[in-house]
Amino acid sequence: MPSYVVVGGSRGIGLALAQQLATSAENTVFVTVRNKSGSTHLNELVAKSTLSNIHVLEADVTDHRALKAAAADVAKVTGGSLDVLIHGAARTEMTNMLRGMTDYEDDDKLDAEFLDSAMNAFLPLLRRGSAKKIVIIGGEGGTSEFVWKMRVSGMAAFGTTKAAEHLVALKYAVLLEPEGFTVVGICPGFVDTSSTAVEKPDDTAMSAIAGFITRLQAISTNLKSFTPEEAAKRFLNLVDSISTKDNGSFIEYIEYKKES
Ligand SMILES: NC(=O)c1ccc[n+]([C@@H]2O[C@H](COP(=O)([O-])OP(=O)(O)OC[C@H]3O[C@@H](n4cnc5c(N)ncnc54)[C@H](OP(=O)(O)O)[C@@H]3O)[C@@H](O)[C@H]2O)c1
Repeated sequence: MPSYVVVGGSRGIGLALAQQLATSAENTVFVTVRNKSGSTHLNELVAKSTLSNIHVLEADVTDHRALKAAAADVAKVTGGSLDVLIHGAARTEMTNMLRGMTDYEDDDKLDAEFLDSAMNAFLPLLRRGSAKKIVIIGGEGGTSEFVWKMRVSGMAAFGTTKAAEHLVALKYAVLLEPEGFTVVGICPGFVDTSSTAVEKPDDTAMSAIAGFITRLQAISTNLKSFTPEEAAKRFLNLVDSISTKDNGSFIEYIEYKKES
């Protein structure tokens, strides 16, 4: 009975991951969300599921107490263990996403964007699990190669927090190596999550996205827009295939042109 926690699964890729994991009666799937009643897509999925193997828990990733309470709820169902933690929660609202370091109204707003999340809450359960896998949904936007090749000054908080997340994963990989854990970052590729998005991009955002895609085409050989379902399938195949030899790795999707 493998057990999975998907952190941030109300919509987008996290929702698609939960949906695919829950198709197997073998799996027990826990999904954390910020706001249970507002998670309409997930609530629909749970209502339609005939297997009763999805559990929705409320926890903001910036609230470590709520995460600990969520972990305690998971433990009640699993008997105290957890096999795989997939961490995908991220602030992706267009207005914040596109901003550069000097684009914030004030420094309090800039500070608020840099709040990070915690994985410690689920660690005691993972230690008692059999798979011992922690996977963060990474993003090339948090790598220096991507930022420089793309010449992207926007997505400042997003890229910087992604880079921090990658390093946090690496710190856990080092810490947990002696215990037989596999901690990796996996980039999902470029995924169109507009079907479950809470906001529609305005004209400024659309033109920024168009410019972004043009630049991506110039530097990469494998640009493709995935549906959340396609991305989740690829992602979960990778989650299945990784083992301790991959501990500490960061699996990118993008392939760069040689000359870029
Ligand atoms: N889409 C892509 O092309 C792409 C590419 C590279 C990496 N990624 C990564 O993939 C992950 C998922 O992205 P997505 O495109 O699926 O985004 P999305 O559709 O905007 O979904 C973001 C998810 O994160 C949750 N979330 C945001 N802040 C949270 C918080 N403080 N606490 C708990 N949950 C929170 C949201 O919950 P609410 O409903 O409560 O807001 C939502 O479920 C992110 O880590 C993103 O960086 C995506």
